[in-house]
Amino acid sequence: MLALVTTPNGSAPVELRDVPEPAPTANEAVVEVHAFSLNRGELRLIQIRPEGWRPGQDISGVVVLAASDGTGPTVGTRVVALTDNAGWAQRAAVPAHRMAVLADNVRFEEAAALPVAGLTALRTLRHGAPLLGKRVLVTGAAGGVGHMAVQIAVRSGAHVTAVVGSPERGRHLRGAETIVHDIDEAEGRFGLILEAAGGASLSAAIARIEAKGTIVIFGNSSGEPTSINFRDFAEHPNARIQSFSYFTSEAEERFAPDLALLASLVAEGSLKVALVESSWRDLARIGPELRDRNVAGKAVFRVEQS
Ligand SMILES: NC(=O)c1ccc[n+]([C@@H]2O[C@H](COP(=O)([O-])OP(=O)(O)OC[C@H]3O[C@@H](n4cnc5c(N)ncnc54)[C@H](OP(=O)(O)O)[C@@H]3O)[C@@H](O)[C@H]2O)c1
Repeated sequence: MLALVTTPNGSAPVELRDVPEPAPTANEAVVEVHAFSLNRGELRLIQIRPEGWRPGQDISGVVVLAASDGTGPTVGTRVVALTDNAGWAQRAAVPAHRMAVLADNVRFEEAAALPVAGLTALRTLRHGAPLLGKRVLVTGAAGGVGHMAVQIAVRSGAHVTAVVGSPERGRHLRGAETIVHDIDEAEGRFGLILEAAGGASLSAAIARIEAKGTIVIFGNSSGEPTSINFRDFAEHPNARIQSFSYFTSEAEERFAPDLALLASLVAEGSLKVALVESSWRDLARIGPELRDRNVAGKAVFRVEQS
């Protein structure tokens, strides 16, 4: 079968190569991959991993071999799944508890956008629960995580202010009450702030958090450090800065129900995933577009089986 593998010394960071078929363990099913998505964190991984490494976490497709221990979906089921790696391939082995069944009205391309970015959006928002009536600020709202976080927060009853880099970047955004083009333009205080730009953006977030509010930091897209002083919290007493990692934030057995929840939001129409869709043969062209903030929402790739 074909798979994308890292080629640090090649003309592109990954290339399609013939690789062995997956060898599933007892609790793994084999999925024929129809689509996958690319995350900002994976852009870095494919630059630093050694020759021949197999990337890929977010996949969707059809189960072609069920897990031999009898758990998980049966052959022929359409699924979305989260793999550790090796997902950018025509077939991938996935633990049965890290996949969820797709309704017929959810396209593979939409589903493939969900695992890393959707789980991050959903689980960072849980740090602000209950969201009903709460003021929520989302930085990087044009991006993969941000545009889903805005919609899930709105669906949960929050009043959302979204930070996007420009009016053009905000064109695909749905549901935000207020859109600003710099966090410094965001007015008032917020009970929950999702922050992944870092640097000046995190400093500005601290200046906007309510007393006892929570800032969830889950990335550093700007690469800038932030200096923090206890006095910064003088007008925001007992506010909390919560670090977040999607993979370990909740128990392993929560992956399937959370993926199912995200897929159900897409099926019911309350989560619209903005997509830039291409063939997996175009990954080397689209990667720089994501790096340079030219992708609205998620970059997803169709996997041709022949
Ligand atoms: N901790 C975790 O578990 C976890 C999980 C998933 C993602 N992440 C991290 O969370 C961040 C967002 O992920 P994503 O998938 O949504 O990425 P993305 O699609 O590339 O979106 C990033 C957004 O950040 C904004 N941004 C602001 N300042 C930026 C800068 N200096 N450089 C680049 N972007 C900047 C951009 O919006 P504008 O162009 O509109 O300003 C962009 O839309 C990334 O840092 C990623 O590595 C962490």
